[in-house]
Amino acid sequence: MKKVITYGSFDLFHEGHYNILKRAKALGDYLIVGVTTEHFDRMRGKLNLVDPIMTRIQNVKDTGFADEIIVEDHDGQKIEDIQKYGIDTFVLGSDWFGKFDYLKQYCNVIYLERTPNISSTVIRNNILRLIKLGIVGTGRIARRFIAETKFVSGVEAVAAYNPEKESLDKFVREYAIYSFSSGYESFLKCVDAVYIASPNETHADYVRRALQAGKHVLCEKPMTFTYQEAVDLYALAKQKGVVLMEGIRAAYLPGFQQLLTVASNGTIGKVCDIEACFTRLGEPTSREMSDARYGGAFMEYGSYTLLPIFKILGLDYEELRIDSILGNNGIDVFTKVQFKYPNALATSKTGAGVKSEGQLVIAGTKGYIIAQSPWWLIRSFDVRYEDANVVDHHEVSFVGNDGFRYEIAEFLVKINGTGGHDYKLTAEESIAMAKVVEEFMNIRREQQGF
Ligand code: CTP
Repeated sequence: MKKVITYGSFDLFHEGHYNILKRAKALGDYLIVGVTTEHFDRMRGKLNLVDPIMTRIQNVKDTGFADEIIVEDHDGQKIEDIQKYGIDTFVLGSDWFGKFDYLKQYCNVIYLERTPNISSTVIRNNILRLIKLGIVGTGRIARRFIAETKFVSGVEAVAAYNPEKESLDKFVREYAIYSFSSGYESFLKCVDAVYIASPNETHADYVRRALQAGKHVLCEKPMTFTYQEAVDLYALAKQKGVVLMEGIRAAYLPGFQQLLTVASNGTIGKVCDIEACFTRLGEPTSREMSDARYGGAFMEYGSYTLLPIFKILGLDYEELRIDSILGNNGIDVFTKVQFKYPNALATSKTGAGVKSEGQLVIAGTKGYIIAQSPWWLIRSFDVRYEDANVVDHHEVSFVGNDGFRYEIAEFLVKINGTGGHDYKLTAEESIAMAKVVEEFMNIRREQQGF
């Protein structure tokens, strides 16, 4: 019996999928079809799948060509499958030409001509309205962000806003998009959604005006400086029926989801302590190193260090203590935030001008999780136990350099209503962070004496 295998996501099942399965089946007696999991697709950068895996499997089954359907969930599985199932021929569409030639040492590799003019991406773009995105602020981070929008289907950056004309002009020339240096409301009229990456102190006002205009908002952290402002903005978003999301990239990465699972599924027992540390020695002239009012270590990096604490231990802490060391120019060069929960402790450490080991350690009654710097762009972590010889190593990669595309994809999923609940970063978690920021600012102001 001649066995053939092929793989795909088979999202929004279409004629191209039908044709390749039909031709693959004709190449042998028994066809195995590997359907990808969402997790695997996310890791390899396919971020906007619409159909859940069971629907995709059912659609493949309904063609009647597959004798067996398996699930593909990790890199390297193809070689395992070929050996496990005794495969004679591996088939994929011509868009993959040459990419799987390394499998020729195990079986025949055939690339079949793709059916022209159809793909899941095209269908996704047709059924899900293309979201026109406006960028507010045109600095470093906006540049990194806009570059990543190109990797997420269903969104297009069309305009940028910045009252500082010089920076704006450079930016729009580079990215060939419309520019607005005044008239924020006119800018809002050209877009469906905005990404706000302006200086910290301008975030809340831009967010409010965009929400009032009925636009979806993705705002860089920290979104606001006060608890009440955060509450009001999320209420406004709800009232207007639009999405409001705080851009804490770490929250949207596949590896972080896995870390949260391991922290809560009993592997390390009951979590008793979390230590999250993020430090950077930036340029002395940069905003985070020089702006005594709105910059500094905690403002810049605190959202990252609070994230695992709130995700794992929740929002009901009993006590909070904030201590900072200020530099000569008044910024906090190092801030330690300590939380006391009923049965756990947690510490957030941030440094801008102080360097430390940037790690995340989650201590439990059976073992601990350790994720090394840059754990906020997590690709791997270890679980360690009393017996130092036992280490469970977890690798959950992601594509791109800085994780923006996962955040953008999540924003689109929320806008299009194709995802489930808001669990990756909830409004309540974002509001709880604003509360800590408010407390921090009060303390720092006292310390600074203004
Ligand atoms: N395929 C094909 N003809 C098409 C589209 C897909 O032959 N017009 C093949 C692919 O080459 C692959 C299989 O169908 O072997 C599954 O592809 P998949 O990636 O799931 O579908 P695409 O439509 O290419 O999806 P996307 O646009 O998300 O990349």
